[in-house]
Amino acid sequence: MTYTVPAPLRQRPAFQALQQHFERLRETTLTEMFAADAARGTSLTLEAEGIYFDYSKHRVTAETIDLLVELAEESGLADLRADMFGGEHINITEDRAVLHVALRAPRDQVISTDGHDVVPGVHEVLDRMGAFADQIRSGQWTGHTGKPIRAIVNIGIGGSDLGPVMAYEALRHYSDRDLTFRFVSNVDGTDFAEKTHDLDPEQTLFIVSSKTFTTLETMTNAHTARDWSLAALGDEAAVAKHFVAVSTNAEAVSAFGIDTANMFGFWNWVGGRYSMESAIGLSTMIAIGPENYAQLLAGSHAVDEHFRSTPLRENLPVLMGLLTFWYSEFFGAQTQAVLPYDQYLLRFPAYLQQLTMESNGKYVTLGGVKVDYSTCPVYWGEPGTNGQHSFYQLIHQGTLLIPVDFIAFAHSLNPLGDHHDYLTSNVFAQGEALAFGKTAEQVRAEGVAEELVPFKVFEGNRPSSTFLIEKLTPYVLGQLVALYEHSVFTQGAVWSIGSFDQWGVELGKQLAQRVIPELQSDGEPELGHDSSTNELIRRYRAARDT
Ligand code: F6P
Repeated sequence: MTYTVPAPLRQRPAFQALQQHFERLRETTLTEMFAADAARGTSLTLEAEGIYFDYSKHRVTAETIDLLVELAEESGLADLRADMFGGEHINITEDRAVLHVALRAPRDQVISTDGHDVVPGVHEVLDRMGAFADQIRSGQWTGHTGKPIRAIVNIGIGGSDLGPVMAYEALRHYSDRDLTFRFVSNVDGTDFAEKTHDLDPEQTLFIVSSKTFTTLETMTNAHTARDWSLAALGDEAAVAKHFVAVSTNAEAVSAFGIDTANMFGFWNWVGGRYSMESAIGLSTMIAIGPENYAQLLAGSHAVDEHFRSTPLRENLPVLMGLLTFWYSEFFGAQTQAVLPYDQYLLRFPAYLQQLTMESNGKYVTLGGVKVDYSTCPVYWGEPGTNGQHSFYQLIHQGTLLIPVDFIAFAHSLNPLGDHHDYLTSNVFAQGEALAFGKTAEQVRAEGVAEELVPFKVFEGNRPSSTFLIEKLTPYVLGQLVALYEHSVFTQGAVWSIGSFDQWGVELGKQLAQRVIPELQSDGEPELGHDSSTNELIRRYRAARDT
């Protein structure tokens, strides 16, 4: 490992320089910045890998970016990045390499960890996935009664669900419309019931996706699915035709009753939230076909190479990550909105929530001490224009500063009349309104009654990035995924936190395992609980049993 944990954030010289710079800049508005520099709208932009990134509507100058880049350098970003690509165990607390970049490496690239090139294994699984996807798509793979599979149900949760469902929705345009795709994640029986009620067991394939193959939600749903399937098909032998598994845990897969010949593996160097391009993407590959899937991987790989080899100052995901840090640290921004102006990206914000917050929602540094600064903001969002008629009021006139990522496309995949120009005019208008607002003088000039003027003023000075991309393709989706992954990486490096473990999800899981038998027995709840939890258990049992 070349990376060493740097000095505490606020003691780094570049941080202190940034702090002073911020004090000078904090009162300067975006209106003033644009007035002072006529070229700002073209100079504070970056074009990389076919993506146009406009960051001119941020409360930064070129000097801010230089200082942020200096901070990234002092934070060891380049070393940590080299260690990731070099297969070092940068997931320190789990002693694991972090190599999702290998999932999209071309066949001839060598990426090694622990003295072993992992790329041939990646392609072996991709080839098996491709052959299987082709069999399902062509109808060659038949169910137990000889009928072709027409419905694919992915059972998984977290990284074993959010990536697949996001990618399916995002790439629906490219999908085989004769196939139905469903995604069951919640242990709430309603999820399974609603997603399967209209499916024909004879033509339904379940993909049980779980890295560990121990997750309560997924295992419960998988058993229910098996019961559902066998109740109709009446024969254990049907499992082999209607269930496949995606996992790193062959033993548990075979204990469940799935033949490991029907298992697609991956490796412990793929984190759950970074796994949508591992075998966890099997449903995506069946939906869009192996060639489109290869494009998805190619898009991510192009961004991986950009991230790995472009100087930090021109490095798109690095800038994205540094901007998030800038607002979190200096403006106290507690959230970050991601607002894609493309209906197909409706689940992209939900996908990003796990990617960003499970990665960087942490208060302990890699050095094992508690931070004295904020880390990951809350990521959230909805596709435009729907959000405009809902929460945008708060972004424009609320008391919180919310940096926004707008994602816009030059072409619609469904060109209908003027729809796309109307959609895109809205995204540009929103960025403009947020940045420059409307002054009291402008409001008065519109003839607004004096008592209404304060309500109609927009302070502006609200930051946004705009991505302008040609059109949503599998390749572009791969790029977007990798951009946010490496932005998360950059943020983690600056905050000196480990972005690749997730200990914070464990306690609730452990306590649930204690509560389950208590809900299922008549005895008094354990003394170890607090009085509130005990009373909730008693009341739940009483209400359920009457
Ligand atoms: O609970 C969090 C988590 O461990 C995620 O990191 C992971 O994506 C999810 O659960 C599902 O885990 P698995 O794929 O092992 O079922």
